[in-house]
Amino acid sequence: MNHYFEIKDLKVGFKTFEGYKRALDIEHLAINKGEAYGLIGESGAGKTVLALTILRLLAMPPSVVESGQIIFAGENLLTKTEQAMRLYRGKRISMIFQDPMSTLNPVFTVGEQLRQVIQYNRGTSKREAERIALETIDLVKLPDAKNIIQKYPHELSGGQRQRIIIAIALSCGAELLIADEPTRNLDVTIQAGILKLIAELQRDLKVSVLFIANNPGLISAVCQQVAILHEGRIVEKGTVREVLRDPVHPYTTAFLRAIPKNKQEKIDLKKLVAFGEAVRNGGCAYFSRCLKRQEPCSSASPALKLLGGTHFAACHLGGERGER
Ligand SMILES: Nc1ncnc2c1ncn2[C@@H]1O[C@H](COP(=O)(O)OP(=O)(O)OP(=O)(O)O)[C@@H](O)[C@H]1O
Ligand SMILES: [Mg+2]
Repeated sequence: MNHYFEIKDLKVGFKTFEGYKRALDIEHLAINKGEAYGLIGESGAGKTVLALTILRLLAMPPSVVESGQIIFAGENLLTKTEQAMRLYRGKRISMIFQDPMSTLNPVFTVGEQLRQVIQYNRGTSKREAERIALETIDLVKLPDAKNIIQKYPHELSGGQRQRIIIAIALSCGAELLIADEPTRNLDVTIQAGILKLIAELQRDLKVSVLFIANNPGLISAVCQQVAILHEGRIVEKGTVREVLRDPVHPYTTAFLRAIPKNKQEKIDLKKLVAFGEAVRNGGCAYFSRCLKRQEPCSSASPALKLLGGTHFAACHLGGERGER
């Protein structure tokens, strides 16, 4: 099947003082046009490294792309020159970075920042860029656009700032939006507004979205498909319903259980921390924390297997369902 965006056998690592460290090993991930794809994983799983690899924004060295393909609209981004990548970044693929507070430049008004991005990427006149800037602010549902564009970032609330960042990301007509934990520092009511906005923009503008989060609740509010990332590998993927309602991999089950459904529910922390020896050579990366481990988990790394529908999991236990 031809996907609009596809990652194949991607391996990325870092040269560190302790030696080479593999941070990403993704067999396959595909996003269809206009689809919102969620990527969930705990801190350090490799979510931001993946986003930066797609846009080729990782510094090399210390990072190394060992192998793989990142195919966007039929072209492999990993073979593009730096100059060719500039035709993709911002114009066709945009990113909302993890930290909304430091993304905007504090010494320019938000209107100036929006205008500069539009002028640079679209090659428009200053006046035309200003007009598009006002339109884009309306698009992200900020009232009184003429007043907002004159403000400096510190004069706006966290939620307003994040809407400006989304406006900048969409101002040049990007077809793929990578949102790296876009609501991380926002309180829950503001979070809900931003999620609703991203879902509406995805639906109305037919933008494909790679939505990164460490909270499954956020993913289910926005996405149709989801992948669970553990230590740089996808351990389970499928539709949101298949993976979050009916998880199979013991890591997905433990991850979902870490969020209490009500105040009375107790979390068994023993289930979430390492209790066994980590496996170094060839075994499953979840071995040391897995309560269901058995042979050959310590010696063979499980590949992603189709369980039915579009549901895949990388676990030797195969189809044994985890309970939530
Ligand atoms: N420049 C770097 N040099 C060495 N290792 C790095 C570098 N950048 C990232 N890493 C490592 O890559 C791994 C993945 O990091 P990444 O930032 O992608 O995590 P994440 O899933 O985005 O976590 P978080 O939810 O905290 O943002 C981590 O183990 C991190 O230490
Ligand atoms: Mg991150």
